[in-house]
Amino acid sequence: MDSLQSFLAKLQSQNPKYMAQWTPQQIQGEFREARFFVIPQIENPQALALVRSFPGEPGKGDVTFIAVAKTYQGQGLGRELFKQICEGGFSDLTVEVHADNEAGKAFYLALGFEPSGRRPNYYGPTKDALLFRYQVPAG
Ligand SMILES: CC(C)(COP(=O)(O)OP(=O)(O)OC[C@H]1O[C@@H](n2cnc3c(N)ncnc32)[C@H](O)[C@@H]1OP(=O)(O)O)[C@@H](O)C(=O)NCCC(=O)NCCS
Repeated sequence: MDSLQSFLAKLQSQNPKYMAQWTPQQIQGEFREARFFVIPQIENPQALALVRSFPGEPGKGDVTFIAVAKTYQGQGLGRELFKQICEGGFSDLTVEVHADNEAGKAFYLALGFEPSGRRPNYYGPTKDALLFRYQVPAG
């Protein structure tokens, strides 16, 4: 678990503009509270996602963190993480993205997420968050 926590800190430092800069205590808390998904394995992580669930609402989740190490981006690892999350039992997912994170927005749209709202000044003055939602198609 320590290796995953330092990997998360590394991913944040690679993406200072769009990744929440959690303190080490907050990172520990996030790993306690959220389910994590990692590719390809904990000992040698290349991509990581954290998803919080909602008590009493099975299938529902909020993606609080998802990132692929820079050298592995554009090779399908993000899509693979998403597949793992769905296979892990999540069928109704929400996520917040910086409004100017073009790669993040394109990524979620490519996965089938749909825009579901906007939170003005969420990340700071004039830094809006866009909300996206994915629901497994019925049937
Ligand atoms: C966003 C991120 C997780 C995507 O991971 P990735 O492994 O590079 O994405 P994949 O290779 O699995 O691509 C999946 C789909 O997203 C699209 N996509 C990914 N990055 C993209 C980009 N920079 N521009 C346009 N589309 C992109 C791809 O076209 C692909 O679609 P396809 O499978 O239909 O061809 C990665 O770029 C990243 O870690 N970014 C920094 C952190 C971040 O911004 N996280 C998301 C916001 S919270």
